[in-house]
Amino acid sequence: MKTTSTFGEYIASQAERVEAALIEALPASWDVPGSLRESMNYSLMAGGKRLRPIMVLEAAEALGGSQAAALPVALAIEMVHTYSLVHDDLPAMDNDDYRRGKLTNHKVYGEAMAILAGDALLTQAFYSVTQAHRGFGIPAERVLAITEELSFYAGARGMVGGQAADMLGEQGITKLEELEFIHLHKTSDLIVFSLRAGGHIAGATEAQLNALTEFGYALGLAFQIQDDILDIIGDEQKLGKPVKSDEKQQKVTYPYFIGLEASEQKVKELTKQAKTALIQANLPNPDRLLQLADYLMQRDH
Ligand code: IPE
Ligand code: IPE
Ligand code: MG
Ligand code: MG
Ligand code: MG
Repeated sequence: MKTTSTFGEYIASQAERVEAALIEALPASWDVPGSLRESMNYSLMAGGKRLRPIMVLEAAEALGGSQAAALPVALAIEMVHTYSLVHDDLPAMDNDDYRRGKLTNHKVYGEAMAILAGDALLTQAFYSVTQAHRGFGIPAERVLAITEELSFYAGARGMVGGQAADMLGEQGITKLEELEFIHLHKTSDLIVFSLRAGGHIAGATEAQLNALTEFGYALGLAFQIQDDILDIIGDEQKLGKPVKSDEKQQKVTYPYFIGLEASEQKVKELTKQAKTALIQANLPNPDRLLQLADYLMQRDH
């Protein structure tokens, strides 16, 4: 048996586990137009860090739940995240040509198919959530809560709302709070969903869900600030997406507002804040989530 000596190796093995299941997410027996299936799988299987699905699995484990039963929900959030990236890269949005080290979806399949692949991934996510009940017997009441929250955190009040504010913001943001609103919604909301969904799988209490939420909002904000820092100083090869995309789109970001060094400091502070919230909740098994927070702070892609 292979022992995982570093946390990085553990994360890589978790990502592999997610990918093995993702390949099967759209049942082979379904009659789907070939280029739609191809376009969906192209972006789903293009790589990516798989952080959100890993968060679902780790949050379930932190509360003594089953990672296997959490897997359908882990796949669901990766589908929503992937659809958000496919649409984010479209010419009408960030107009980027590379993602996860490959040409963006619309560059390969055309804009119409990229839009439809995104639509289908979003829809497929809700199907996948239901499989936590159908395949693993997670009580319907918990799966209902996850379904409700996926819609809440991914939709108009959540990630899509954040993306809309981001688009409107290109015309000029003058306050840090406006930028924080964008980040908390376009990025933190999917991370908060992932953690809470893992919690629901394990039957978390309200207090435990609140701690996961607080952890997720701080971590998500740190994650987006780091993304904005890497957009300036990152390595295109490692990132698998173009740098200077924000400047090209005249995006107002944390580094733009407060400078690079203060942004790096902010990432550290938020990570610490996130960990404190989690530690205070006394979860049965929080170690992997705490390690993940530190791991993300040091990331270069
Ligand atoms: C990119 O997310 C979009 C942001 C919210 C910053 P990730 O950095 O998690 O992208 P992948 O999934 O690894 O490609
Ligand atoms: C996008 O933020 C967040 C999403 C919801 C897709 P960015 O536009 O900064 O993400 P990247 O840098 O293209 O991955
Ligand atoms: Mg964007
Ligand atoms: Mg973008
Ligand atoms: Mg970015």
